[in-house]
Amino acid sequence: MPSPFETDPSLLALAARFPAGFHLGASTSAFQIEGATRADGRGRSWWDDFCDQPGRIADGTNGDVACDHYRRWREDLDLIASLGHNAYRFSVAWPRVLPQGRGAVNSAGLDHYERLVDGLLERGIAPYLTLYHWDLPSTLANAGGWQVRDTASAFAEFADVVARRLGDRVYSYATLNEPRCAAFVGHLEGRQAPGWKDGAAAVRAAHHLLLAHGLAMPALRANTRQARCGIVLDVKPYDPADPSSAADVAAAHAGDGVFNRWYLDPIFRGHYPQDVWDGFGPWAPEVHAGDMAAIAAPIDTLGINYYTRAVVSAVPGEVYPGLVEVRVPGQHYSHMGWEDHPDGLRRMLRRLHEEYRVPDLFIAENGAAEPDVLSPDGSVDDPARLHYLQGHLAVVAEAIEAGVPLSGHLVWSLMDNMEWGRGYVPRFGLLYVDHANGQRRILKRSGAWHSALVKAAATGG
Ligand code: NOJ
Repeated sequence: MPSPFETDPSLLALAARFPAGFHLGASTSAFQIEGATRADGRGRSWWDDFCDQPGRIADGTNGDVACDHYRRWREDLDLIASLGHNAYRFSVAWPRVLPQGRGAVNSAGLDHYERLVDGLLERGIAPYLTLYHWDLPSTLANAGGWQVRDTASAFAEFADVVARRLGDRVYSYATLNEPRCAAFVGHLEGRQAPGWKDGAAAVRAAHHLLLAHGLAMPALRANTRQARCGIVLDVKPYDPADPSSAADVAAAHAGDGVFNRWYLDPIFRGHYPQDVWDGFGPWAPEVHAGDMAAIAAPIDTLGINYYTRAVVSAVPGEVYPGLVEVRVPGQHYSHMGWEDHPDGLRRMLRRLHEEYRVPDLFIAENGAAEPDVLSPDGSVDDPARLHYLQGHLAVVAEAIEAGVPLSGHLVWSLMDNMEWGRGYVPRFGLLYVDHANGQRRILKRSGAWHSALVKAAATGG
C-alpha cells in the first residue's frame, strides 16, 4: 500500500541514520494477545485467576480471546512482514509449555512457538523471545509463587525446555520482562497478579525473580551458541520536581534506587545498592550464598522498556522511597498519564552505557497509549503517538551516533491488546484492533509512518 510518508524528507533523513541491520519492529506478550487460554492443553496462569476475581480488571474483561493471535498467528506474521519490520518480540506462555509449571511438557504448546519462530525466520524477521512476561502457571502460584525460592528453579527448568527446542533459531532470549513491575505492581501496589499489598513480599519476589534470571542463564547458554541472552528491565529517570529542594533531590535518588538500581546493580555489579537495602529496612530479602554471583552471570544484551520519566516531590513520613509523582505543566501526557519525554530515553541510554558498561542494548518496548478512534472511513489518525515515536526514534539515532551500543528499537505494541488490569481500554498498537468486529487489524497513521521509516532504513534511507 503506498504511504504518504514514503517521500517525507524528514522521515528519509531519520531513516538514513540507522545502520544496516539495525532492528526495527514491535513487541507483544503472550497473555496480552494470544487468547485461546484453554486450547491445546494450556494450563492456567495466575493472570487467568486474577481476571476471574471481580473488580480486578477495570473493564471486567479477561485474556480468554484477547487478539485471538494464537489462532491468527500466520496472518499476523504476514502483517508484520508487510510492514517491513525485521524483528519481532513475543513471549512464551509458560502454562502452554508446562501446564503444571514444571514436569510434563505439553508438546502442543511448544510446537506453537516453534511454528512461530520458524514462521518469523521464513519471513526474514529476527525472533526476540521473552520467557517470563508475567503469566506464572497457577500451580506454582498456588504453591507460593515468587515468594518461594523454588519457583526460580522451576523457571530455569522452563528456560531449558524452551531453549532445548528452539536453540539458536531465536535471535535474542530474554529471561524476564520487567521483574520490577512483576514484583512491585503485583505484590505491593496490588494492581497486577497476584494483587497483594505487602512490601516485604514485593522485595522477596524481586529477589526470587532476579534469582530465576540468574539460574536460567546457564540453561540458555547450554542450549545456544550464538543467540544473544539477557533480560528486559523497565527503566526511567527520576527527576526532582524542585531541583533546588534537597528533599526532592533525595527522593529522586531513592526513587531511582527502587526503580532502576535495585535491578541494574545486582546484574551488572553483583550486589544490591546499600542505600536501597537500608531504605527497605525490614523488607530486605533473604539472600543465600551464591545468589548474587548467579544473578550477576554475564549477559550478552540488555533490553530496556522505556515509556516516560518520573518527576517527583518528597513526601516526608511516606513509606520508602517517600515520594509522589507530579505533572509538569504544558507537557503531553498519554492515556496512561505518562509524559512524552524522549530526553529521558537519551539520559538512560547514556547512563547504561557509561555507568554500567552494558555490552549491547536494545529497546524492547517504547510507545504510547492514546485514545484512538476508528473513523467511519476506516482510518485511525493518532498524531500524539506519531509525535511520540518521531521524538523517541530521533533519540535512538542520536544515541547510536554517540557510540551507545544499541542494536534495535521495538515499539510497544504491534497491536492493541489486553493492558493487564486496565483491560482493553488503553490502546498501544501500531495496528488498531477492532475486537468487536472480527478482530480486524487496521494500520494506524503512526503505524504507516513507522512502517515507511523501517522500509526506508532497510534500503539505506
Ligand atoms: C510494559 C509491559 O511489559 C507490557 O506488558 C505493558 O503492556 C506495557 N508496559 C504498557 O504498560
